[in-house]
Amino acid sequence: ITAGPTREAIDPVRYLSNHSSGKMGYALASACAAAGADVSLISGPVGLQAPERVTLHRVTSAEEMCAAALSLADDADCFIGAAAVADYRPAAVSGEKIKKQNGRGLSLDLVENPDIVATVAQLPNRPRIVAGFAAETHDLLSHARTKRLRKGLDMVIANDISAPETTFGSDQNAVHLITAEKETRLALASKYVIAEHIVTALATRLSE
Ligand code: PMT
Repeated sequence: ITAGPTREAIDPVRYLSNHSSGKMGYALASACAAAGADVSLISGPVGLQAPERVTLHRVTSAEEMCAAALSLADDADCFIGAAAVADYRPAAVSGEKIKKQNGRGLSLDLVENPDIVATVAQLPNRPRIVAGFAAETHDLLSHARTKRLRKGLDMVIANDISAPETTFGSDQNAVHLITAEKETRLALASKYVIAEHIVTALATRLSE
């Protein structure tokens, strides 16, 4: 399971990141462990404690998260990408603090990060189930369906991040579970309860 944001360094004091708190990914890790799974949680920088009976791998950048995911995915039955991975990173990291430009603007060249969940889904020895989230501000279901197909996922969990109660940092969520066969709406509940439903859906698929 990946969780939390990634940080993409600009210089020794600055980075690009996002508002993910890690709560959804950590809730999933807890729920998987409670269901009896052997869980590795690959976490970006967040202020949360490792859940009980979960092996925590701390990373900072998307490239580090990708390397950790690839080293662990080989042995996994199931991979869940809950992290809000930065899609881009600065093309070059300045070794020194970038100074103000005397009123001139500052441009950063960005390059694309690897798509971790899509890379895992393409592994020759891929986990039997690869699931990801789709965090969307608009056209939730159509973007989520497209993402599931484009990334080669068995399940996509569509997360409306335009609503305050279901966005980054909230203790609650409401999502749609989307597979090739069906779509299920999970009404607003704590992130742990949502995680339990996701784990039940994944376990049912694994047992089929
Ligand atoms: O952490 P919280 O504060 O609890 O918030 C939860 C959450 C909103 C972060 C979570 O529920 C969620 O939606 N996570 C996915 C956030 C995201 O980046 O979504 P996306 O639609 O941009 O990415 C789609 C999928 O590809 C995700 O599974 C993501 O982990 C994965 N991805 C994206 C980019 C990338 N370079 N590598 C990836 O693996």
